[in-house]
Amino acid sequence: MPAARKIIIDTDPGQDDALAILLALASPELDILGITVVAGNVPLRLTLLNARKICELAGKPKTRVFSGAVRPMVRDLVTAEEVHGQTGLNGPVLPEPTMPVEAQHAVDFIVETLMREPPGTVTLCTLGPLTNIGLALVKEPRIAERIQEIVMMGGGLFEGGNVTPAAEFNIYVDPHAAGLVLKCGAPIVVMPLDVTHRALTTARRIAALRDLGTAPAIASAEMLEFFERFDEGKYGTDGGPLHDPCVIAYLLRPQLFQGRYINVEIETTSELTMGMTVADWWGVSKRQKNATYMRDIDADGFFALLTERIGRL
Ligand code: BDR
Ligand code: CA
Repeated sequence: MPAARKIIIDTDPGQDDALAILLALASPELDILGITVVAGNVPLRLTLLNARKICELAGKPKTRVFSGAVRPMVRDLVTAEEVHGQTGLNGPVLPEPTMPVEAQHAVDFIVETLMREPPGTVTLCTLGPLTNIGLALVKEPRIAERIQEIVMMGGGLFEGGNVTPAAEFNIYVDPHAAGLVLKCGAPIVVMPLDVTHRALTTARRIAALRDLGTAPAIASAEMLEFFERFDEGKYGTDGGPLHDPCVIAYLLRPQLFQGRYINVEIETTSELTMGMTVADWWGVSKRQKNATYMRDIDADGFFALLTERIGRL
């Protein structure tokens, strides 16, 4: 087997973040150098707690977890308790974690790791607002040319927004950071709502997870059942979109996804469309292409992979 791919997971758990972390922890193709945590779905104090609960649920308490930004670069923090519950991880009852938070700040860890490792060998997987990555780029711009790839869950074009008519949550919370990241010059893959709204946690798919019978699988099923109750009402679908695990699945099975290399920029001035992902799918602008924007997913293949991997924990 080739050497495991080195990744940093930047995250704001969140039930779907939790599933993404479990998928990564279960996958020997990936070497998780660290999990950097950011405020987003709930405040940082809770996302930090949740990240560690998930590592312990997976039986991986040695995973390094770093505390990051408490608020976006410019705007006030917006959270999403109505989706994720008051803890951010409502659904299962998980014990208080005992594993430590690393002393180093997440932004310093990102910078130090990218400057230390050989260029083009570390991938950033972003599952939340892009504040930590934006701050790292401000602190040490030379990291941009050393990043192997940034795979981010964020944005929406054909599906519109999920937090305003124009904006997807991760981009909306810190549009300035997202704008910086998209302009940084590193290879970028965007996993937007256009993909994740096709990855629905149907009753059959949740049952397949629960039937594995292990503690991580049952907790995953409970998380998804809590998480989807909001989105089922909102979208009128059987199940809700499973956003963040698409990022990790892309690293494991890129052939599950289809997209186009296009120009993607972020609106940061208009209040009406703040955080809108301006994705030039049809190539109508002459703006420079900067990201592979995904549009479609083999949803059955994706859930088969997720279920098989969570069964390994
Ligand atoms: C994104 O926002 C969060 O609520 C989810 O965790 C996901 O990262 C979807 O818009
Ligand atoms: Ca998230």
